[in-house]
Amino acid sequence: MKNDIVIIIDFGSQVTQLIARRLRELKVYCEIHPFNKINNLLMKKLNPKAIILSGGPASVLDKDAPRPPSNIFELGIPILGICYGQQIMVKILGGTVSSGHGTSEFGKSFVKFKYKEINFLQNLFKDNLDEEVWMSHGDNVSNLPENFEVYGESENAPFAIIGNKQKHFYGVQFHPEVVHTVNGMILFKNFLEIAELSFDWNMKSYLKNSVSKIKKEVGNRKVICALSGGVDSSVTAILIHKAIGDQLTCVYVNNGLMRKNESEEVIDLYKNNFKLNLIAAHEEDLFLSHLKEISEPEQKRKIIGKLFIDVFEKHASEIGKVEFLAQGTLYPDVIESVSFSGAPSVTIKSHHNVGGLPEKMNLKLIEPLKELFKDEVRALGQELGIPDKFISRHPFPGPGLAIRCPGEITKEKLEILRNADQIYIDQIKKYGLYKKIWQAFVVILPVKTVGVMGDARTYDYVCALRAVTSVDGMTADYYPFDHDFLSETATKIINNVDGINRVTYDITSKPPGTIEWE
Ligand code: XMP
Repeated sequence: MKNDIVIIIDFGSQVTQLIARRLRELKVYCEIHPFNKINNLLMKKLNPKAIILSGGPASVLDKDAPRPPSNIFELGIPILGICYGQQIMVKILGGTVSSGHGTSEFGKSFVKFKYKEINFLQNLFKDNLDEEVWMSHGDNVSNLPENFEVYGESENAPFAIIGNKQKHFYGVQFHPEVVHTVNGMILFKNFLEIAELSFDWNMKSYLKNSVSKIKKEVGNRKVICALSGGVDSSVTAILIHKAIGDQLTCVYVNNGLMRKNESEEVIDLYKNNFKLNLIAAHEEDLFLSHLKEISEPEQKRKIIGKLFIDVFEKHASEIGKVEFLAQGTLYPDVIESVSFSGAPSVTIKSHHNVGGLPEKMNLKLIEPLKELFKDEVRALGQELGIPDKFISRHPFPGPGLAIRCPGEITKEKLEILRNADQIYIDQIKKYGLYKKIWQAFVVILPVKTVGVMGDARTYDYVCALRAVTSVDGMTADYYPFDHDFLSETATKIINNVDGINRVTYDITSKPPGTIEWE
């Protein structure tokens, strides 16, 4: 009996995790194993129903081209090779691959079918139309192994889709996992149906599996986690707590730069409701005194980052020997630097908020969300019973309101900012826009202008409203509020917030702007 699992052998492609994501979307359980960490023995033990060979930056023509374990073609299970995966399969099974001099393809391409193998290409090439796919390859398959047939070709890839339907070995030159391959999901579904996977995996199973993995990794040792109350750190903390209970200690640092009532709500939820072992460090005065008279943005960030580490370390030392630091790193935070040596090489971007800590404190990292995308983290958070209010929260930067208060930070300005921000966010929620917007906040400008209220002259601060749509925060567009929303919100802010007499709306996209103002 095979296990109901697909093994993805990673050859270092930038998008291997997307294969896993697509399979999860189809409710199929999969595991990614780097090619150099899996062998015949482990493959036998995993006993999967199917294997997918990922793309990768190397060339199969290289002397030491990365290979999958040698036994996979004898296991009697379906195998799908993608790009490099297709080429290495062809090479191992006796076909040939040639250097793609002059025929390399990058980007959009169209595949015509040559022969419509019934199951693998089910529901594709409808009405004989070409399939739009995304290519990224230098080399090309030039001769097929025995018993292989061509099912589809593109202008520069005569063997764009190939297969041996007796053995259920299939290869595609394009990347079905990226959204630009319009019907990539159909292709995966067909392959998984051929392999008789049951489509019943869900976040509950992911949760169960993660909990047992964390238990195994941590044993009876201690873990520390910086909890900010944001989605990622919250899900990380609750997940680890579920696995190891009180062996986890969380540290929440109130740096005086949080939003209105934020610290109280976070502490109440995690300490009183979830019963986390939570140390709440109230250090408003420490942070604000160090930020006094500082207006240069990078200097603010550095000061906050350093103080955070100091405070965190101080409290961590009270717990005794700790071996792990938990971080809510998500897959998009993982910067993949593909080396052309052929090894999958992944460099982790240290989280903005706790950068430098693991080395300084000599801690091992534990990052249970590393394979997930934001929406999947939210689904996991829901499974863990974290209230929607916390799960659907907009991102909030580590330096907090400090970078939404250009110029010098004062208690007075922070208070004005908090009040305006709360009204703005409430308005967005009232209009049912919160989940349509990636991030929204108020910025208090270091400028006072003249106004008139009643019959009196005012001389108060200007604030800017910011709201952007984005997929990953790397690029962003301003949100096109309608006039009613903007004028009602401006009026509410001016009428209710002492200290602001003028409201503006920021219509800068990123690039050239950034989302935050500093
Ligand atoms: P920018 O302003 O660079 O922001 O366009 C992109 C996204 O990153 C968030 N951001 C931070 N998050 N620590 C964080 O945890 C930081 O220092 C930091 N700076 C910016 C920002 O809120 C936006 O979502």
